Amino acid sequence: MATLMGKKVVVVGGSSGIGLGVAASALKSGAELVIVGRSPEKLQAAERTLGADSRVRTFAADMTKEAKIAWLFDEVGAFDHLVSTAGTPPPGDPIDRTDMDVVRRFVDNKLIGAVLLAKHAVRTLKTGGSMTVTSGINKDRPPVPGGSVVSAIAGSFSYFARALSLELAPTRVNIVSPGWVDTPMFDELVGEAKSGFFESMAARLPAGKIATPADIAPAYIYAMESDFTTGETIHIDGGQRLI
Ligand SMILES: NC(=O)c1ccc[n+]([C@@H]2O[C@H](COP(=O)([O-])OP(=O)(O)OC[C@H]3O[C@@H](n4cnc5c(N)ncnc54)[C@H](OP(=O)(O)O)[C@@H]3O)[C@@H](O)[C@H]2O)c1
Repeated sequence: MATLMGKKVVVVGGSSGIGLGVAASALKSGAELVIVGRSPEKLQAAERTLGADSRVRTFAADMTKEAKIAWLFDEVGAFDHLVSTAGTPPPGDPIDRTDMDVVRRFVDNKLIGAVLLAKHAVRTLKTGGSMTVTSGINKDRPPVPGGSVVSAIAGSFSYFARALSLELAPTRVNIVSPGWVDTPMFDELVGEAKSGFFESMAARLPAGKIATPADIAPAYIYAMESDFTTGETIHIDGGQRLI
């Protein structure tokens, strides 16, 4: 296993939730960090959370905008690991009431955004480095009704990583698939109903609790540090696929 000491890690989505947890954990492991998101306010708040460390740089960039992402990787220069946790709340309408504009925006952000990141990251990602992208439990336990689109997109990431890990070898490409995690996205999705959802899910989960971002970060650290893991989907869901 390599360590992250002195490595440059780019976390797209690092200004909130799971990505912020990965950023904090990578910083503790000695990494130099670049965190990326669209909102400058969220990036500033994340910097404060991370303790205004001189090893942290932030860039406001939207991963759906190709020119901006090309600029981002030019600015960042050579780096060791790319992590993306970027995403927006998924569409949830039953199929006969699907709003195609909502679906297109979601696919553009989540799937096309990941392709775009990979396209431009490879220009400056060092040999021996890695890419880790986020899918999630919705592919394994789709919400019914309304889970078909998010399930299809989340599921596609595993095949993206398998093919890309062959194309880019020896650069490694992996997916992390979390179960439910207590993040701002969950607040946005269910609002005040969150505590009820979490209580009943925690009671059913083999792990006995809902994850925090700090519980999920080790999967990303493993994906970066393990030089023998590639083309893999790493599930970290407290046993949620089993219930
Ligand atoms: N929370 C869960 O229970 C859970 C479970 C399984 C999977 N996931 C997946 O894990 C990922 C992270 O979720 P989270 O709960 O950590 O969400 P979150 O707290 O809302 O964080 C999402 C991050 O992505 C950034 N982002 C969104 N769109 C972007 C874009 N176009 N370009 C650049 N940055 C962008 C956001 O910053 P800006 O808004 O400023 O751009 C933010 O930093 C999502 O893809 C989600 O579907 C979450």
